[in-house]
Amino acid sequence: MRKMKLLTVILAVCMMLTSCQGVQQEDEKASIRIGISLYRGDDTFINNIRGILEEKAKEYERENDIKVTLDIQDAKGSQNIQNDQVERFISLGCDVLCINPVDRMDASVIIDRAMTAHVPVVFFNRQPVEEDMNRWDKLYYVGVDAKETAVLQGKMVVDLYRKQPEAVDLNGDGVVSYVMLEGETSHQDSLIRTEWSVQTLKDGRVPIEKITGGIANWERSQASALMEQWLTEYPDTIELVISNNDDMALGAIDALEREGISRINVIGIDGTTPGLEALENGKLLGTVSANKERYGSVIMELAAGCALGEELPEEYPLEDGTYYWTPQEILIHKIEENP
Ligand code: BGC
Repeated sequence: MRKMKLLTVILAVCMMLTSCQGVQQEDEKASIRIGISLYRGDDTFINNIRGILEEKAKEYERENDIKVTLDIQDAKGSQNIQNDQVERFISLGCDVLCINPVDRMDASVIIDRAMTAHVPVVFFNRQPVEEDMNRWDKLYYVGVDAKETAVLQGKMVVDLYRKQPEAVDLNGDGVVSYVMLEGETSHQDSLIRTEWSVQTLKDGRVPIEKITGGIANWERSQASALMEQWLTEYPDTIELVISNNDDMALGAIDALEREGISRINVIGIDGTTPGLEALENGKLLGTVSANKERYGSVIMELAAGCALGEELPEEYPLEDGTYYWTPQEILIHKIEENP
């Protein structure tokens, strides 16, 4: 009888322990906290991605019945501010970090902190150097392939030139005179986009001539100032503006509008909200648009997977188990509608 009682007590204790463990496990899986730091909150493309991340977090919550808390911070272009934000995220107990690094060459401080605290990091848009990425198997990168972007940008002009040379060589002198607007020099996308868009035009046998070019650091106002200067320096010469992103393309369009010029073709990259608007009304000839829905989904799935110890869904293959390259497409304004 005594033995029976003892057995019942042991059983009851075991059941209590198991059920407590169950509650604890459920608690652990019931919510995740993601620390996100943006290199600059006022960057149009990054802002688009931010909006999508917020949407995807809500979607993930609904579909998986898990509370997702996003702590989004703006590093305002300072690596020191970003390092402090990472420190804070870790002390707040974030399960995973999504970092858009200010200085992609200097991600080591972030990686050191994350590794010590065992908090995985999903970097995006500004790609840390390979040596840094190879330091830990809990480091990921989501972005677009810069060469692919540039080849698509060049291809849209090549295709148009083949179909309607007069729509590209506006004065019909057999040469397409272009200017180039470049992003930040330290950004992996700038150099590659500049090189490969031009190379693709050459490979596609579009007879091109570079009038001039300049660095406008991805910014609309800087591009607008450069374009204004070029229009004065090279009147009636420019036929095509090739821009490393939509915001600088829009800056060039601002300058053209101030001068009352509408004929010059302007092409961008990104497919941002204002970029798509300009495309729609024919001010922008074309852009290369990353699939931003996918971009946001992959960041969210990777982050949640890291936090919950789950694999990334098979539909999102990672190169070397680390890199995800977001698909992109050419969007071009229907030239027949152009004046
Ligand atoms: C985008 C730019 C953006 C930059 C920020 C680039 O990939 O094309 O629009 O300003 O990333 O890092």
